[in-house]
Amino acid sequence: MRSEIAVVTQAFAKVFGDTAGLTVVRAPGRVNLIGEHTDYNDGYVFPMAINFDIVMAARKRPDQLVRIHAIDLDRTVEFSLVQPIEHDPEEPWSNYPRGVLWALQGAGAKLEGMEMAFLGTIPQGSGLSSSAALEVATAVAVTHLTGFEIAEPDLALLCQKAENDFVGMKCGIMDQFISVLGQKDHALFVDCRTLDYERIPLELGEYRILICHSGVKHSLVDSEYNRRRQECENGVRILAEKYPTVKALRDANLDMLVAGRDQMDPVIYQRCYHVITENERVLQSVKALKAGDLKLFGQLLNQSHDSLRDDYEVSCPEVDLLVALARKVEGVLGARITGGGFGGCTVNLIHADAVDEFSKQVLPEYEKQTGIKAQVYVSTAANGAEIL
Ligand code: GLA
Repeated sequence: MRSEIAVVTQAFAKVFGDTAGLTVVRAPGRVNLIGEHTDYNDGYVFPMAINFDIVMAARKRPDQLVRIHAIDLDRTVEFSLVQPIEHDPEEPWSNYPRGVLWALQGAGAKLEGMEMAFLGTIPQGSGLSSSAALEVATAVAVTHLTGFEIAEPDLALLCQKAENDFVGMKCGIMDQFISVLGQKDHALFVDCRTLDYERIPLELGEYRILICHSGVKHSLVDSEYNRRRQECENGVRILAEKYPTVKALRDANLDMLVAGRDQMDPVIYQRCYHVITENERVLQSVKALKAGDLKLFGQLLNQSHDSLRDDYEVSCPEVDLLVALARKVEGVLGARITGGGFGGCTVNLIHADAVDEFSKQVLPEYEKQTGIKAQVYVSTAANGAEIL
């Protein structure tokens, strides 16, 4: 972390002249342990923050000019707060910080000019939430500089609003929420309806969380994501005719679903089946972890993947292969796709002694069959966003 701070500070000085009055913040990416495609169904999620972040240095300017520099890309954008903040199709990366400034204005923050430079260590295209981390880093830096007071869950909601309404991606609340509220050595159990949360100690003993990046990102992720949301809404509409208490899939159970089956397109049935069973798996996972039953936790991870592959249909052949190869490694208790889907990463619960074996067995075979090099990261649970 110290070296990242030095790189960001030096780059800041190079682009903006000096480092007087700097605030430096970090916001982490995340891996979701279990609870996939449940957040926008008012359900449960169970992510942890990881040791990859966005590190941002920022300071105020005595005017209305905003200048943002992306160190990795070596690009700078500049705009004035005198005009409404607009979307920039030429520099898409800048729409995340722009969106956060826009949402902060909407929430009543009095913005002034500022300069910001940021660096990311979250692998690109990995689905480990680099965009949410960039939003959260911006929000934490700007609220600190302007003294705008906002509670942590509201800060996460504000970043989600930036992504939903400014960037145009209709994501749920999970990624921003964990980036704000993560805690070292804990996973975060979140009720996405009430935003109540509980930090659960991640006591894995000899076991580790291993993230494996498939190296693929299929372009249909955004369109299919939005389609899944609609399919879930369709399911809710049908179920609500019979059961008016069903406002979201969170409120439905398998008996209701089975009773509504005849009214439903088989695809809608499958989607609802995934969400209803996945919510149950999250609750069981939290219980299993609290009881120290890692074997059961691993089985639930496996079931989650199978459901995402077969019922929700958000996996892809490359990730299915990674999961299948991982499950053959002795010491792997569970493996599944994590995040939005269509590529990205798997999350694996693995014995510490099996980590090398995982790399030896899984990576060459994966490369042989796909021609793609996968990457392995072992991550502990990290803190949420903080001022450094
Ligand atoms: C993406 C979204 C999240 C969540 C996951 C799927 O990461 O940003 O809100 O819906 O997909 O669980």
